[in-house]
Amino acid sequence: MSDSTAGTGDGTRAVRAGLPEPVKNEPTLPGPTFAAHFHLPGEPNGPYTYGRDENPTWTLLERAIGELEAPGQEGVETLTFASGMAAISSVLFSQLRAGDTVVLPVDGYQVLPLVRAQLEAYGIEVRVAPTGGDAQLEVLEGAKLLWIETPSNPGLDVCDIRRLVEAAHTRGALVAVDNTLATPLGQRPLELGADFSVASGTKQLTGHGDVLLGYVSGREGEAMTAVRRWRKVVGAIPGPMEAWLAHRSIATLQLRVDRQNATALVLAEALRERPEVTGLRYPGLPEDPAHKIASQQMRRYGCVVSFTLPTHARADRFLDALRLVDDATSFGGVRSTAERRGRWGGDAVPEGFIRFSVGAEDAEDLVADVLRALDESAG
Ligand SMILES: Cc1ncc(COP(=O)(O)O)c(C=O)c1O
Repeated sequence: MSDSTAGTGDGTRAVRAGLPEPVKNEPTLPGPTFAAHFHLPGEPNGPYTYGRDENPTWTLLERAIGELEAPGQEGVETLTFASGMAAISSVLFSQLRAGDTVVLPVDGYQVLPLVRAQLEAYGIEVRVAPTGGDAQLEVLEGAKLLWIETPSNPGLDVCDIRRLVEAAHTRGALVAVDNTLATPLGQRPLELGADFSVASGTKQLTGHGDVLLGYVSGREGEAMTAVRRWRKVVGAIPGPMEAWLAHRSIATLQLRVDRQNATALVLAEALRERPEVTGLRYPGLPEDPAHKIASQQMRRYGCVVSFTLPTHARADRFLDALRLVDDATSFGGVRSTAERRGRWGGDAVPEGFIRFSVGAEDAEDLVADVLRALDESAG
């Protein structure tokens, strides 16, 4: 007997998430369904008619993500997208109209300023405020939608989701939370009252650096219907292969997250001792400015550690000296990556700012590599 919601542990839920009822001689997780269209004689009824609207491989993945984002909650719908940006855009552009106001974080993912410009081009007023200190509260009046990113990327500030949701709902605004960095095992925004939990599945959710994916989880109803309609209109759908790879990867989510996040804390503790490191941020460090709120709303603190080295050149030398860590963007993968974030020009960070994504290497090996690279880059 299979019940994908049976068991309450995160590991149990992850390995069983979204699995169909067992059928003799069928695989546990059916392979990807490659189909542009489905046989459809007569009335064009669902569930599967045309491949831009629905696909059985998405159905299982969407069920899996829903079980992690909102375990035991009835009436939550999840939709998957071609990328995190497709998911973000689907919420913003399906909910907002000319004349509406939206509140974005000023320190969120670096594509948000481009999104802002597009929203403004459509006649939507955009207000921005920092994530830390719940500063978005100050600019909420009259807003239709509040967009939160917590922890923020790359600064790792955290805001109080419950508090912001309460204030937004009192003013009639919807709330969307970018849950990319935390993953649903780290934070469950819908339980904290948010209307949408939105994420890039490209990061730790899938965790192997080989898939682009996004999703939106939200309560069934008008708002999610509009998100679904947006997906159909824009066609920003995941490929069946990507959806299947994502589902397969979710089975190891708890293993990866627990391992990577535990090592992230060990790395942050090691970096804390280094005199050349300033601005160290990791929400799991007890002395981190975000720790108090993070510990109230997060169950795990993520795999990203950020810090600043004295100069641009020092940061480049450090990245160059690392042997176990790829100099690459993105985060959340099983292979550690790090980058000098200022090279993109989009984030308000110092020149020597490093965003470090901790992978699944042995903690001792990784920390030793980092400490050696710090020593070697000093000269
Ligand atoms: C917090 C956050 N949200 C959204 C995205 C966009 O995701 P994708 O690259 O899958 O479009 C990213 C990508 O880095 C991100 O870091």
